Amino acid sequence: MGGNFYKLSMNDVPLRGKTVLVRADYNVPLTKDGEVDDDYRIRMSVPTIQRLLDQGCRIVVVSHLGRPDGKKDERYTLEPAAKRLAELLKQPVRFIDDCVGHKVYMAVKRAPKSSVTVLENLRFYPGEEANDMEFARQLAKQTRADYFVQDGFGVVHRAHASTSAITAFLPSVAGLLLEREYMTITSAMKRPKRPLVAVMGGAKVSDKIGVIERMVDVADGIVLGGALANTMLAHNGARMGKSKIEPGQDEVIERIYAKARHKLGTTNYDTLLLLPDDLGVGTSLEPSATRRDVGARAVGNDDYALDIGPQATTHMLAVIETAATVIWNGTLGMCEIPAFRAASEALAATLAEGRATSIIGGGDTADFVLHWDKQAGKSFTHVSTGGGASLELMSGLTLPGIECLLPGKK
Ligand code: ADP
Ligand code: 3PG
Ligand code: MG
Repeated sequence: MGGNFYKLSMNDVPLRGKTVLVRADYNVPLTKDGEVDDDYRIRMSVPTIQRLLDQGCRIVVVSHLGRPDGKKDERYTLEPAAKRLAELLKQPVRFIDDCVGHKVYMAVKRAPKSSVTVLENLRFYPGEEANDMEFARQLAKQTRADYFVQDGFGVVHRAHASTSAITAFLPSVAGLLLEREYMTITSAMKRPKRPLVAVMGGAKVSDKIGVIERMVDVADGIVLGGALANTMLAHNGARMGKSKIEPGQDEVIERIYAKARHKLGTTNYDTLLLLPDDLGVGTSLEPSATRRDVGARAVGNDDYALDIGPQATTHMLAVIETAATVIWNGTLGMCEIPAFRAASEALAATLAEGRATSIIGGGDTADFVLHWDKQAGKSFTHVSTGGGASLELMSGLTLPGIECLLPGKK
């Protein structure tokens, strides 16, 4: 992969026999009955925890789950995640139903070497999202930690008490997952094997559209799908019926086109940005919705554009087949409805069979490819545990939860 990580990691500090506070991102989807629905983030944290167990550490794991807004809310308890972690580690994991206070202090004090204690959801306290120094001080003190290991890659784009303020109280280093995510994503972006193609879709238009702007500099081709494409098509004058679009994006879209013109000249610029020439539309959002394929300029007033069409898929795959690196964030269609998975399935299949380096990020996109892939994600080069974090990193931003870790040795 080349290059060294610019922060200290677990291998650089003497952790043997120490009490270690680990920040994980166990913000996982739960079923209606409160069971863990997708354990990818928990599984990916196991190597770090196992390494610490092998070194005789007392491990205290903290995380958030959902957005309970600073109040205790049993729907967002981390107990199911602790249960799943115990199954994966094949050893008992103690769950404490608070993350600060005397109960936590006593539990860690009594914990034996090579043990794992998971604390309750950090976001049950307002101090977490407020990046509150006093809350972070309590976390450090009551968990009796000697070191802090940041391994919650998915949350390091947030400056919260457990990703930022905590590092004022404990020597703080990167965990194995964080380091691997950072190195894989940044090396794909800094020294990409070319052509580099970015596929961007999904629903969070305003979060992602800024990334397209940066991708114009970085990528040799950009394929657009999902509500992101709907929004760009609407900007270009297409009627989109009832489709999901986000208004108010005109300025950034104009900047994207201006940058593309600057890069490729006024006659060729639209070869850089591949918008769908046809769309799969439905007349409802029910799971049983059926599909019609229409030209991108022929969406009816009652239609929802829910996938890119077969012609657009053929064009996309032709671009993908020439690529040496593919970055994919955001499903190309509404994959929750079977009829609108076609383009995302075709892309997944082409990436799985092809030789291009494939880096897939985003909560829903990762969930989709992991369920699609019979090899649970191994068919791709890297399936990131980060959504917003991987996107921000790909777009060249520094992430506050990484910046504040101890600097690496040169
Ligand atoms: P990720 O979580 O991978 O970062 P997003 O959350 O931005 O991606 O987008 C994924 C969501 O986008 C999925 O729930 C999917 O249903 C939705 N989506 C994709 N295409 C469309 C579309 N054409 N119209 C409405 N929703 C869409
Ligand atoms: C994520 O799922 O992207 C992370 O866990 C961060 O969650 P948040 O968007 O609620 O801060
Ligand atoms: Mg999502």
